[in-house]
Amino acid sequence: MGKDVIIACDFDSAEKTFAFLDLFKDEKPFVKIGMELYYAEGPSIVREIKKRGHKIFLDLKLHDIPNTVKKSMAVLSRLDVDMTNLHAAGTVRMMQGALEGLTRPDGTRPMLIAVTQLTSTDQESMEKDLLIEKPIADVVMHYAHNAAVAGLDGVVCSPLEAGKVHERCGENFVTVTPGVRFADGDIGDQKRVMTPAEAKKVGSDYIVVGRPITAAPDPVAAYRRCVAEFVD
Ligand code: C5P
Repeated sequence: MGKDVIIACDFDSAEKTFAFLDLFKDEKPFVKIGMELYYAEGPSIVREIKKRGHKIFLDLKLHDIPNTVKKSMAVLSRLDVDMTNLHAAGTVRMMQGALEGLTRPDGTRPMLIAVTQLTSTDQESMEKDLLIEKPIADVVMHYAHNAAVAGLDGVVCSPLEAGKVHERCGENFVTVTPGVRFADGDIGDQKRVMTPAEAKKVGSDYIVVGRPITAAPDPVAAYRRCVAEFVD
């Protein structure tokens, strides 16, 4: 599995996004487009970033009835993104529908990964709001297993869970891990973090890094530092 650093482009406009991407002259980083930017600018932002030569992880976390997700995924696959995602809570049947929709007539498709439980959901809110009474670690692993059963490529998870996910779902099942900070950096609102080097050691396949790169005084140098620690 090719390890890579994905930059979370959490900007609210195309203008800010391009001002950021223009800083990169020699490399074309893999970028994540989330709901904020996608809803602000629509599908044209995906086409434009793709045209500039970047790989794209479109982070829209779909969750609906299987037929709706299947048809929506077909639209996203025509946008030529490289990776997209959904909520595993939508059930195995929804995930299977998503894969069908995502597969292009020539048999190719973007990578599809699942969100298990959001890191903003804790044991208490899961029990009180969702009436799920199992330990959250078991729920995360069960959802990851469901994603593997449905045929998905992997999950978004904490780097702290990457090793266990590989144990349960296989070495080739991809782990995409946010919550990455430099050893000497500010952790901001993230609670449990790892450095790029530690994420590499525990077997993360892709790290998603936002503010340590986007808010750095020299974003290109910060990106290169991530790549040096995680990939090289
Ligand atoms: O700026 P920072 O490095 O914290 O950005 C991390 C990115 O990963 C953000 O886009 C955030 O929404 C996303 N993410 C996360 N934790 C999750 C899932 C996604 O931080 N559990």
